[in-house]
Amino acid sequence: MGALVALVTLRKGRQRCGFGSRFKDFTAMTTLARITFAKPGGVYRGTVIVLAAEGLAIGTYTKAIGIDGVLSRAASIVDFKGKAMAVLDLLAPSSGIDRVIVLGAGKPTDLLEHDWLRLGGAAFGALGKGRDATVVLERPDQRPMTAVAAADFALGFVLRSYGFDKYKPSKDNGGSQQKGPPRIRILVDDAAAAKAAWSSRAAISEGAALARDLVNEPANVLGTLELAEHAGTLKSLGLEIETLTEKEMRKLGMRAILGVNQGSVRPPRLVVMRWNGGKAKQQPAAFVGKGVVFDSGGISIKPAAGMEDMKGDMGGAAAVIGLMHALAARKARVNAVGVVAIVENMPDGASQRPGDIVTAMSGRTIEVINTDAEGRLILADALHYTETRFKPKFIIDLATLTGAIMVALGHHHAGLFANDDTLAERLRAAGESTMERVWRMPLGPEYDKMIDSRFADVKNTGGRLAGSITGAQFLQRFIAKTPWAHLDIAGTAFDSPATEINRSWASGWGVRLLDRLIADHYEN
Ligand code: BES
Ligand code: MN
Ligand code: ZN
Repeated sequence: MGALVALVTLRKGRQRCGFGSRFKDFTAMTTLARITFAKPGGVYRGTVIVLAAEGLAIGTYTKAIGIDGVLSRAASIVDFKGKAMAVLDLLAPSSGIDRVIVLGAGKPTDLLEHDWLRLGGAAFGALGKGRDATVVLERPDQRPMTAVAAADFALGFVLRSYGFDKYKPSKDNGGSQQKGPPRIRILVDDAAAAKAAWSSRAAISEGAALARDLVNEPANVLGTLELAEHAGTLKSLGLEIETLTEKEMRKLGMRAILGVNQGSVRPPRLVVMRWNGGKAKQQPAAFVGKGVVFDSGGISIKPAAGMEDMKGDMGGAAAVIGLMHALAARKARVNAVGVVAIVENMPDGASQRPGDIVTAMSGRTIEVINTDAEGRLILADALHYTETRFKPKFIIDLATLTGAIMVALGHHHAGLFANDDTLAERLRAAGESTMERVWRMPLGPEYDKMIDSRFADVKNTGGRLAGSITGAQFLQRFIAKTPWAHLDIAGTAFDSPATEINRSWASGWGVRLLDRLIADHYEN
């Protein structure tokens, strides 16, 4: 018995050294586009991007470039009508200008926030990687261009410019690695106001890119320690960081987290990130993330096909880390706490088994029916810890929790479960503005009953039916009284369809949504 323990320790110790040295491999490689703003006018050179509305209406500054004739001829040749996101590429249209990219803006009267985001993304798409350009940004209908719309355009452009090429540097990636990030000059009437509006969005774009990086990174490079360590680097932005080790978690009784990780050779961590941008006495907003660096399913092992995607099972934690980055970088006037539970779910002689009963930090006993329903186990402790320690105003957890949410909602909405209608409605509205949309799902006693266990207070699966709901019911059992929302992001965190503002496997989903929730309702 003693020898066995020693052997396990030895093996884990050796492995630990091995991957510790790999940490150097993991450096955020984000090369986002660089944005500057200036007033329109002067002489145009290089590549210029302009907007044209349906019916080919263009703004005053765009007219002044002097390419009307070429534009209307080229448009009729290829049947370009200015439909939203359509692109007309004019090469060498005048002696000084190499290229004019005419981007369709559709009906200008309808232009909303998400249209400006998408137009910015489409502009990057038309430009291509590794190229610099000047954007003449004005409304094609002559109405004044707002600074906020210009900044939203810039955000769309920057989000689309994100790429994760670090493991194929030799492949053709448009030379972006050699030339560094593309630089884009946005010419807009009120350049100073646009620049001011951009500064908070720049912070948000960094947070979203960080979340994408963390999700894209494979689990051999981004293990539990590396993810925790990365959260720790947010200290440089003024966040307070605390990292609980295995020993500290054991002392606190977090046996649900420890049980999930016990088959992994890499140790678990729980990281607390605190941003104190609000008044000293203000209750914090709390965000809790599922950080499973790899989910093999454990003893209830997953099928081989598609298992590689489970490197992204820390998408909830990535969103929380990205959000905390964004809040700190834009100096949000709010108190916020981010808690991420970080584990790896592996099969091993030491693994948790189906039938095991663990006592969570809250004192509730959990019967583990399926070791692949591990996200709810680690969140049980993380939620209880967050509620009791920080007494937050609300708690929102994010988790790639169930395959079933994809069956219900596909890739276009995250599942929203909440015990509070106000919080749910605010999340819905923030989702519409940011294009990170949520759809509310039901909770109720009938569903709750489905996770009653024969042997313990609760079991970790509720059978085939209503899989996402019973997952949420499980989480709710670990919330005592705080307004709470659970976002099931299994369908939105990664492998979602290409959009105008994202072509990466990882979407960074949740960073912009939750930043907006805070900005709209919780900053004084
Ligand atoms: N991480 C998975 C859920 C998941 C699946 C996320 C596919 C993204 C893509 C989660 O831990 C899981 O395995 N859930 C099980 C729960 C079941 C055993 C009750 C599932 O969805 O099958
Ligand atoms: Mn699982
Ligand atoms: Zn999982």
